[in-house]
Amino acid sequence: FLISALLIFLGYLLGSIPTGYLTAFYLEGIDIREHGSGSTGATNILRTVGKRAAIFVLMGDLGKAMLAVSAVKLWFLLPFADLLPLEWKSWLVVLAAIAAIFGHSKSIFLNFTGGKSVASSLGVLLVLNPIVALGTLGSFLVMLALSRIVSLSSITGVIAVNILMFGLNQPLPYCLFGVTAGVYVTFRHRTNIIRIFAGTEPRIGQKLQREG
Ligand code: G3P
Repeated sequence: FLISALLIFLGYLLGSIPTGYLTAFYLEGIDIREHGSGSTGATNILRTVGKRAAIFVLMGDLGKAMLAVSAVKLWFLLPFADLLPLEWKSWLVVLAAIAAIFGHSKSIFLNFTGGKSVASSLGVLLVLNPIVALGTLGSFLVMLALSRIVSLSSITGVIAVNILMFGLNQPLPYCLFGVTAGVYVTFRHRTNIIRIFAGTEPRIGQKLQREG
């Protein structure tokens, strides 16, 4: 039990790594949380710092989430991990995954602030089920090409991930990850959603006033 709790906490710590904050601070000397949407994610880095920095942050956020889930899976390969019932193993993977995406937006290193957990959720999906991850990414990219609005594309991805998880008959813990991450990511986008309905959500390349 202790090791399970440690693995979940490790997921939270890895998710907490403030990739976007550190990148913006290192490159521009700014606190990214005081610019644009206030999010530490790649989208806000793109509009505030630039393209290359955004790609770096995107990769970092994908990678840390992949690492959080892979760490649990690797631990299962050790002989004494066999003592854990199979059923509990997938739940543990999912709990560490949820801890990682939560850590991304409520980082222990940033006074419990952070991003909107889109890239970190995709990182988790890449390890849980690459087919679901690619399908989700595809829906995101199609919506992005049509609308050029990242938040709307992220919410499209939330819907896609749930259709794919249930449609492809994935294990219950994985489906519940889709539901939990979906609700959480949508909640993190509440100000974006208000702007989308108001018609004021910026498209890629457009400026955004600091969120209240
Ligand atoms: O990945 C987050 C994205 O969906 C929205 O980010 O900065 O436009 O609120 P932002």
